[in-house]
Amino acid sequence: MLKIGIDKLGFYAPHLYLDMTKLAASRNVDPDKYTIGIGQDKMAVAPITQDAVTLAANAALEILDDRDKEAIDFVIFGTETGVDSSKSAGVYVHELLGLNPYARAIEVKQACYGATAGIQMAKGHIAMNPDSKVLVLGSDIARYGLNTSGEATQGAGAVALLISADPSIMTLEDQSVYFTSDIMDFWRPVYSDKAFADGKLSNEQYMAFFSKVWEQYKAKTGMELSDFAAICYHLPYTKMGYKALKTILGEGSEDVQERLSANYKMSTTYNRNVGNIYTGSLYLSLLSLMEQAEDLAAGSRIGMFSYGSGAVGEFFTGILQPNYQQHLHVDQHARLFASRIEVTVPEYEAIFEETLPTDGTTIELDIDHDPANICLAGVTDDKRQYVNKLN
Ligand code: HMG
Repeated sequence: MLKIGIDKLGFYAPHLYLDMTKLAASRNVDPDKYTIGIGQDKMAVAPITQDAVTLAANAALEILDDRDKEAIDFVIFGTETGVDSSKSAGVYVHELLGLNPYARAIEVKQACYGATAGIQMAKGHIAMNPDSKVLVLGSDIARYGLNTSGEATQGAGAVALLISADPSIMTLEDQSVYFTSDIMDFWRPVYSDKAFADGKLSNEQYMAFFSKVWEQYKAKTGMELSDFAAICYHLPYTKMGYKALKTILGEGSEDVQERLSANYKMSTTYNRNVGNIYTGSLYLSLLSLMEQAEDLAAGSRIGMFSYGSGAVGEFFTGILQPNYQQHLHVDQHARLFASRIEVTVPEYEAIFEETLPTDGTTIELDIDHDPANICLAGVTDDKRQYVNKLN
């Protein structure tokens, strides 16, 4: 039986961040509400020189070698904050990374669920074409608006997953449960660059979807909580996943409860310092777990709950592969976090308000102050101008 799964996993967040306690002070909110009640310490802030395309391309840059670039014949870009209603963000990334031209490149959308849909599509493609590799991207900039209740759950960043046969990091098991229901808990009409959310309803639906897919998964597979070393969640903010985990912890022994709680904490470290990155959030959590947990053995089963408002949810699982740790980039990610620059609240607000022209005006952006290799350098004739500084 062909094993298919995650061969490589890359991550990128912009070089700026806002301290949540400082945001709280400026919004007259008790800082504990953000750091404990919501569970966020820092929020990644994207400068105007980063968008969904560049964030994804930077995430992919850290994992792909020349052989991968030749073998990738499918780029699937999951995003809900793409830059064009027509052209797929995958085509830009395909060019920026110099991938084999004999490839497909598309964009998929279903709120934060897009990258999961991409991974499942990739799995089917590899099953039919075992020698190929698929690049799945999840990249977003979460914007609710200044002084909104969603503000504390903003963020920016991207993940890049190389899906292949005989993967080095994790095989994806075949059994999964998915669920769709038309709900207005969070949406973004095409005329708005900020999301609308019914916060309370979105929390309720997240929990209801988790309960539905978890119960159905157990009924379908005969699996139980003790079969899992950890469960990773889509994390709009780190308290959200914990609320869901708490509802099922009682199904396990004390040991199982301790293991899942400890690993949950490890799976939230990166997200706590980045914020909601929508499509990439679940995979950032998986990365955090694998890079931060010290005693997560190969062979461990990891559960994953993907939720995209609107809404689609899925529960699926993967098995960690022998020596998976050797295929991670722990030091690189430690450097990425350590080298970030803090912005003040007024600086963050100014960056938030800075938008690109929508009337065809040409604009050249200063990319010298953005340490990312791949940046948005400007807009000419309504066309975004991307630069890969390594070329
Ligand atoms: P809010 O309504 O201002 O916050 O915004 P709250 O009053 O509900 O408080 C939040 C928590 O902080 C509560 O804890 C308070 O008790 C606690 P809980 O009852 O939930 O356990 N708290 C404190 N804790 C310690 N010390 C204090 C203190 N004060 C209060 N002093 C909300 C919260 C999440 C609603 C808002 O930020 C929002 O609307 N965010 C956007 C929507 C969202 O993230 N929804 C999550 C589920 S939907 C989803 O995940 C999909 C999504 O990613 C989009 C997609 O799919 O594309 C969003």
